Amino acid sequence: MGAVSGRLRAPKGTHDLLPPDSERFAAVEATARRVFSSYGYGEIRTPTFESTELFARSVGETTDIVHKEMYTFPDRKGRSLTLRPENTAGVVRALVEAGIQEAPRPIRLWYAGSQFRYEQPQAGRYREFRQIGVELLGVGSAAGDAEVLIMLFAFLGELGFRDLVATLNCIPRGDARAAFSRALQEHVRPRASALGDEDRRRLEENPLRLYDSKDPEAAKILEGAPATLDFLDEGARAHHLRLQELLREAGVRFVESSAIVRGLDYYTLTVFEVASERLGAQNAILGGGRYDGLVESLGGQPTPAIGFAIGEDRLVAAMEADARSPRPVFFVIPGSPADVDYALAVSGAIRALAPGSVVETDLTARGFPKGLARAAAALEKPERYAFRASSVRAVLLGADEREGERVTVKDLATGSQRSFARTALGEELGAARDR
Ligand code: HAM
Repeated sequence: MGAVSGRLRAPKGTHDLLPPDSERFAAVEATARRVFSSYGYGEIRTPTFESTELFARSVGETTDIVHKEMYTFPDRKGRSLTLRPENTAGVVRALVEAGIQEAPRPIRLWYAGSQFRYEQPQAGRYREFRQIGVELLGVGSAAGDAEVLIMLFAFLGELGFRDLVATLNCIPRGDARAAFSRALQEHVRPRASALGDEDRRRLEENPLRLYDSKDPEAAKILEGAPATLDFLDEGARAHHLRLQELLREAGVRFVESSAIVRGLDYYTLTVFEVASERLGAQNAILGGGRYDGLVESLGGQPTPAIGFAIGEDRLVAAMEADARSPRPVFFVIPGSPADVDYALAVSGAIRALAPGSVVETDLTARGFPKGLARAAAALEKPERYAFRASSVRAVLLGADEREGERVTVKDLATGSQRSFARTALGEELGAARDR
């Protein structure tokens, strides 16, 4: 055994979520559940690790994700497993396994959970990060794309985002995609000597992936490159135009850009991203698109599909509003240890009478001044508390209250204080709510 080393720390690129941050994430997830379920989407939970082959066959061998960002390890029997770098592949694998061809269509699913990518950590970029995602399977028309985007913007609107704009592109498919790739190669090849090894490999193996390059030289070369939108076949063009029409009708704001090709190989036709100016270099809050060939390539019946995933860490960082609902808060404070039993009984009574409120009993029983100081801090330093208070009241229970079966309630915001019989609690709390 080596020498005992220093303090244990969370692995590089991970971050702990403690209250109130964890509560903010939970509130965002609760909003996702509320909004998505109102469109008929049900939650899916797939394993955190999958066979390595799944990602190689879906996300694509030549993508950055599969090529150099996966957490891959052999299990004790030597099977190659990978911590999921994204969830679309796992969702499709699960549906094919469960017999997607028998299921009534369309299939509407959402998920929330950790994803893992071995990237260089920086603000907004982690090795374990959280995504909230949506997948709609079985709809090939632009109405499917529109539903997903409209629902996405409804969700973002609920969280207080008002001026986000989607960047939209359409990636050619089939022969048109091959022609686009060739045109891209022809444009880049004469300038390839300015590129690094990695980008030269991309150029030959999968030219679309040049758009994932972080090299400014590559970005410069791509500036005058052929545009995806000039290579669409007739059906693809009609799909793209119809989607834009539907988005305009629904009031979803978007701009077109040929430069959004997305770093995963399964995309066909529609792709989109949303960025926030409130974030730094890692400003993509979310990305998504259509993947009409993926179900079939993973062994299912041909099934068109579209979805997106939001980077929850970035979403929360970009949020101005607090997604937590404000709740009435009661600090129940015994005057001394002798009053703890009475305090526990009164706490229970308040929870029953005022559902949805937060009732904290001061179990330290160090007296009114200390208890009141903690209650005051809930108003003055709300960032220290798991909950978001709509009102803060201290319930003071000393020997007088205990012996007389009474309660004294002090409103911390106004300083007003009232004393009344315990039996009148319901009436008093109701009255306080109405005030
Ligand atoms: P993606 O663009 O790879 O797409 O990831 C979606 C979002 O996850 C990004 O826009 C970003 O906000 C967040 N994200 C990605 N990597 C990191 C990281 N290292 N740290 C923090 N946040 C990160 C997908 O994953 C697709 N599965 C989306 C999809 C669903 N397409 C169709 N259906």
